[in-house]
Amino acid sequence: MTPRLVTRQSGPLSGSVRVPGDKSITHRSVIFGAMAAGTTVVHGYLPSEDCQATAEAFRMMGASITVDGATMTIISPGWNALTEPADVIDCGNSGTTARLLTGLLAGLPLFACLTGDASLRRRPMKRVAEPLAAMGAHIDGRGGGALLPLAISGRQLNAIDYRSPVASAQVKTALLLAGLTARGTTSVTEPAPSRDHTERMLPAFGVRLEVAGSRVAIAGGQAMTAPAGPITVPGDISSAAFLIAAATLVPGSEVTIQNVGLNPTRTGLLTILDRMGAAIERTNRREAGGEPVADLIVRHAPLKGIEIEPALVPSAIDEFPILFALATQAAGTTRVRGADELRVKESDRIAAMARELARVGATVREHPDGLEVTGRTPVKGAECQAYGDHRLAMSMAVLGLVAEGDMVVDPGPIATSFPGFAGLLAGVGAALADA
Ligand code: S3P
Repeated sequence: MTPRLVTRQSGPLSGSVRVPGDKSITHRSVIFGAMAAGTTVVHGYLPSEDCQATAEAFRMMGASITVDGATMTIISPGWNALTEPADVIDCGNSGTTARLLTGLLAGLPLFACLTGDASLRRRPMKRVAEPLAAMGAHIDGRGGGALLPLAISGRQLNAIDYRSPVASAQVKTALLLAGLTARGTTSVTEPAPSRDHTERMLPAFGVRLEVAGSRVAIAGGQAMTAPAGPITVPGDISSAAFLIAAATLVPGSEVTIQNVGLNPTRTGLLTILDRMGAAIERTNRREAGGEPVADLIVRHAPLKGIEIEPALVPSAIDEFPILFALATQAAGTTRVRGADELRVKESDRIAAMARELARVGATVREHPDGLEVTGRTPVKGAECQAYGDHRLAMSMAVLGLVAEGDMVVDPGPIATSFPGFAGLLAGVGAALADA
């Protein structure tokens, strides 16, 4: 029988925990480390399935990537000496792996095929394939290069100035990596700022970028060299989100989450929760690996529904499943619009959350570009669908901590981003069982 994760109404949560390393920053550490000549050392990387897919892809292209405890060591001859992979690269569930690799491989003199799991094979690749084609890339795939599997015949690219229709760090980074291999200076301008981990990290590898507002430019042909010191990956705010939500929901709780990355392009969840009335204290603010970091002390607080304006969407993009779950326990209506990107994540997170929240007794209204949740409604545990989506599974599991009866989810997808999720939740006193 497939394992199931069961959560139940819990007493006050307490304790001090560390969440695993940031997924976006780990991907970039591995990719940039494997593109840089020399030895890159990474502390606190995320050992999740998504990041392992990225590491495996670069091993197939000649980089040495080894792991010893919480430290990863990457040894590479540099991006212009990577070798042709002997087999299809499997990106698993990871959009970041697929899109960033497409950008890099388009400009390297080798042939490569990329594929992924059923969810990733449904996700749009045209957003990278189209601008790359304008740079001279040769990419074939299903639907004219719109869907994986993709076959990339790498070649010399030419720079473009690209105005992206979507705020997407994956698109931005894919084009910057292509731009690094191209002739001339490539620029990307976004409609709103997306996460800027690439811009923060590339200078440590000796790469010069020009950043002005929501435009980033990179000159082609720059060598990359391994940083002198190790890269330290902060804890992932997108994983901390589930503990923040758990402590906020369960009466009497107080949980400290240490070492959480608070990059301002990622903290939309905290802004939204502050407005909803949550009690989240930021302490011990510091910097690690070019990223702001703090410890969070989260206490239970009653929430009220709010209007989430579209400008806040990019900085909370991965947190909407858990926000929708929280909104069922807020007084009044929480509404988000302008969030159509949620339909092309690991699942259609608008449709999937609408269905699952309705299943457990919440009041929801679906919009083409968002969702409306009206609380506060008591929720009943149920056998939920995760749609193969890690954040769906964790959101419903956390909601189970205030449900009547057992909330049952498939824990399988959780390893994508948050190994040890159930153990961490149990460690702060959540009632759960594996069935
Ligand atoms: C990511 C960017 C975001 C985010 C994803 C990770 C990244 O995707 O949802 O989880 O590491 O660049 P988009 O670029 O599609 O917005």
